[in-house]
Amino acid sequence: MTVLIVHESMFGNTQAIAEAIAEGMTKELPCGDDPAGGPVVRVVPVTAAPTEIPDDVSLLLVGAPTHAFSMSRERTRQDAVRQGAAGEAAIGVREWIDRVVPRSELPVVTFDTRVHVRLLPGSAAKTSANALRHRGFHRAERGESFWVGGVAGPLSHDEVVRARAWGVALAGQHLSPAPAS
Ligand SMILES: Cc1cc2nc3c(=O)[nH]c(=O)nc-3n(C[C@H](O)[C@H](O)[C@H](O)COP(=O)(O)O)c2cc1C
Repeated sequence: MTVLIVHESMFGNTQAIAEAIAEGMTKELPCGDDPAGGPVVRVVPVTAAPTEIPDDVSLLLVGAPTHAFSMSRERTRQDAVRQGAAGEAAIGVREWIDRVVPRSELPVVTFDTRVHVRLLPGSAAKTSANALRHRGFHRAERGESFWVGGVAGPLSHDEVVRARAWGVALAGQHLSPAPAS
C-alpha cells in the first residue's frame, strides 16, 4: 500500500504542506513507513513525478500553489522565479496532468496553497481536481486549501499543524484496513 504525494512548489510552501501531510499519514498508518513492505508515503516533486502511477499506489494526492486564480502556467512560474522563487518553471501540475496516464478508480485528493485575502477567488485544488477528472481520474476530489501570508509565504500560523491533522484524517478515511467479516 503506497500513497503518492505529487507536489509543485515554487517557494517551498506547498512542499512543506506535502511533507506535513505525509508525516500525519505515516503516523496514522498501522505499520508506519515500513521498508519491509508495509504502507509507505512517497512525496515527489512534480518535476520528478511518474507519468504512469505505479500499481501499488492506492491513494494519490496532488498539491499545487494557486497562480492567477488557478493552477500555474509556465509564464506565472517564470514570474515566481523573477520574484525570487527557487522552483523550476518548466513543468507544473497542469502540464503533468496533461501527461499522466489516468487510473479511473484510483482515489485522488488535491490540495493547494493560496494567499489568505478575503473574497479572493480561485483555487488550484479546485481546478486540478476538475482537470484530473477530465483526464480520466473519475474519483478525483478537491481537498484543502492552506494559507500563506504572501506570494513567497510564509505559511500562516498553524497551517503545518492543520496539514498534519488532515494527513491523519485522510489515512483514516482511505487507508484503514477493512473490518474483518
Ligand atoms: C504569478 C503568481 C500569481 C499568483 N496568483 C495568486 C492567486 O490568484 N491567488 C492566490 O491566492 N495566490 C496567488 N499567488 C500566491 C501563491 O499562491 C503563493 O506564491 C503560493 O501559495 C506559494 O506556494 P509555493 O511556495 O509552494 O510556491 C500567486 C503567486 C504568483 C507567483
